[in-house]
Amino acid sequence: MNKPAQGFTILKRYGHLKNACWILENNGEAAIVEMPPFRKNEKPPYEKAKMYLNKNRLFPKYGFLSHSHWDHSFTLPKFRETFPQAKFVTHESFLSDPFFSYYIVRNLRSARGKNWVMGGHRFFDTVFSGELFTGDIGGEPVYLIHAPKHSYSDLLIVFKGAIITGDWYLGDLSDCNDLVDPRDKIKSINRTIEIVRNLNYKIHMLFSAHGDSLFYDADFFSIMEQSKVNHNGNQPDMKARYVPG
Ligand SMILES: [Fe+2]
Ligand SMILES: [Fe+2]
Repeated sequence: MNKPAQGFTILKRYGHLKNACWILENNGEAAIVEMPPFRKNEKPPYEKAKMYLNKNRLFPKYGFLSHSHWDHSFTLPKFRETFPQAKFVTHESFLSDPFFSYYIVRNLRSARGKNWVMGGHRFFDTVFSGELFTGDIGGEPVYLIHAPKHSYSDLLIVFKGAIITGDWYLGDLSDCNDLVDPRDKIKSINRTIEIVRNLNYKIHMLFSAHGDSLFYDADFFSIMEQSKVNHNGNQPDMKARYVPG
């Protein structure tokens, strides 16, 4: 377990791809962020999350995912079953993403019957279609910004002066894949800048969803500007501080 900032806990980095399962907390309430697959020798993340929330007397208010890729959302159905009180929120792009239908829906259909995907259970309580979802965790605002860069289902999660950036490469237009058209990436970055400016919100920390890149005292607007440029595929050295998860 690692607490990269006040109100942020990384329970563990799970599975072969080491994606983090996060708990965001404030004033007795919590959001679970990321529902990764796990290895046989790891305690399932939904069990660890339940233990953590019980121990710290936190109400599981929300479930969020940074995007639909397998290493981020594979255990969504198990989290859904473990936390029936939580409101699971996503963007409509998540549901139409081929990664989601291929890895999650297809698996569930064969493993647990049609009920999960045909009506009896739903994956999410709130599916928003605009650019921004606004909620609160114990009175502290939490925002989800739909901003495709690494995938068309990307959601940036903003809380307590930090932003969880999913699998975005920061400081460069390129990413680890070519799933998103570069013009759409630039639109996302511009939209994110505009939303953060309009909210008059001060972001000074940027955390990768995997929990392997944690930037502190970061200049958010400058990093966003640099992220609009393709620096010939070179990965920029943006790591203000690196803390292994
Ligand atoms: Fe990804
Ligand atoms: Fe990932």
